Amino acid sequence: MISAGQIIRQRRSLLACDGRTSIPAARFYRMLGRVMPRAELPLAERPMPWDAIPWAPAIHLGLFVHRVDGIEPGLHALARDPRKLDKLKAAMHDHFAWETPPGRPEGLPLFLLERGDARALATQVSCRQDIAGEGAFSLGMLAEYQATLVEHGPSFYRRLFREAGAIGQVLYLEAEAAGVRATGIGCFFDDPVHQVFGFRDLEFQSLYHFTVGGPVDDPRLTTLPPYRRERS
Ligand SMILES: Cc1cc2nc3c(=O)[nH]c(=O)nc-3n(C[C@H](O)[C@H](O)[C@H](O)COP(=O)(O)O)c2cc1C
Repeated sequence: MISAGQIIRQRRSLLACDGRTSIPAARFYRMLGRVMPRAELPLAERPMPWDAIPWAPAIHLGLFVHRVDGIEPGLHALARDPRKLDKLKAAMHDHFAWETPPGRPEGLPLFLLERGDARALATQVSCRQDIAGEGAFSLGMLAEYQATLVEHGPSFYRRLFREAGAIGQVLYLEAEAAGVRATGIGCFFDDPVHQVFGFRDLEFQSLYHFTVGGPVDDPRLTTLPPYRRERS
């Protein structure tokens, strides 16, 4: 068994995806389970790192699923706070299916919105970066935006990014532990992302994208051990 410390030290962003590697549905569900903050529990009982984020979860995932064995490719949504599901449904396209994917674990609010090949779409909305379409899945982090800023004030903007960053860190480590890799994607076109999911106003705003897939090493890069005791 690999230790958390080893995973934390060895993890790297992927620079390119191989366009082939798939992950089993069970792994996909596990990764998504780890980004669930379990907001129904008291803060101190929430799983790490969500016990360090003291506000109501405000970020949900719009997923572009490409290569997950046992799950149909297409657009999916994960409501990180199940109490916000109706809000998400009302804001998204009317024609979305909201079907339960096969084998979905109890309590994981993941839904198939629309089946189909979303590889080109994912690439296009992520600034035409191939890593968004050639992995197992990529996603946009969809923030509850205008209402939270009005309610909590402008400083909540930073908190939304902190929450998004924490989701990214969890995905980086979960991907590494699963034998694949991930990359944060800060370059994306937000208006086209909003069109994909059907958002018509500023109720939701895409803040950060992410991709997970089989990495292709770049031989131009050298990786050295980060700590002195590991260098000798
Ligand atoms: C907020 C953020 C946004 C990023 N955006 C992109 C991106 O749009 N495209 C990309 O290829 N990599 C992106 N990256 C990955 C960085 O290039 C990568 O993290 C950096 O080179 C350091 O490498 P490491 O993660 O292996 O330490 C992003 C990373 C972060 C944290």
